[in-house]
Amino acid sequence: MEKRIYDNKQQVAEKFSEYLENSIQSKEHVYIALSGGSTPKIVFDHLAQHYQNLDWSRVHLFWGDERCVPPEHEESNYKMTYDHLISRISIPAGNIHRIKGENTPSDEATSYGRLISEILPSKEGIPQFDLIILGMGGDGHTASIFPHQISLWHSNEVCEVADHPDTGQQRITLTGKVINNAEAVAFLVTGADKQEKVSEIFREDENSKQYPAALVAPTSENLVWFLDAAASNAE
Ligand code: 6PG
Repeated sequence: MEKRIYDNKQQVAEKFSEYLENSIQSKEHVYIALSGGSTPKIVFDHLAQHYQNLDWSRVHLFWGDERCVPPEHEESNYKMTYDHLISRISIPAGNIHRIKGENTPSDEATSYGRLISEILPSKEGIPQFDLIILGMGGDGHTASIFPHQISLWHSNEVCEVADHPDTGQQRITLTGKVINNAEAVAFLVTGADKQEKVSEIFREDENSKQYPAALVAPTSENLVWFLDAAASNAE
């Protein structure tokens, strides 16, 4: 587990963009699972503005989680990505593999899991992403696996249906077996509201194991946390 700490969200976006460009250099096809949330929004804006010349035709975009809403809904992670990145770069439409939040959740969890299994290479019989980008909520959730449903992390499925603990909103999420099978995982975690959980997770105290974000440990051991000072208590 590697920690990279930067002054602010914008610097996290800049440095992560460099990391992303380097990590996709030598690959003909790159399979990336994206996260929702406010931090990726800043990253996507930076990529759209400064990485027009990246060869996006080699990049396939998936999502690590999606709210069960239509693609035009304000809470759709796909819509956020389309508005801040996809609509501003030249990437083939066939490279965009969105979770269909408008479908029946259980059906979509099954079909998206099947889609991932069909498109991605596999390792140990499990689909392997080149890179999975994750955020972390202030409650220690990651993707859309929340502490109250941590059993979903241990599911044998590729995708599961989760419920937001406060709103009850249903979501489709990758499970722990796929996340920990990725070639590389990058956490984008910013903001003072994450500081407490970040400290607990890095202390690796027993209590932290109740947080899904603490269970992210790719077998490749290629895990980088991109943090701003506010989230990492490095003020
Ligand atoms: C989502 C995200 C979620 C997000 C965290 C952190 O669909 O909401 O996937 O897991 O990564 O809530 O969000 P911020 O980047 O806004 O802190």
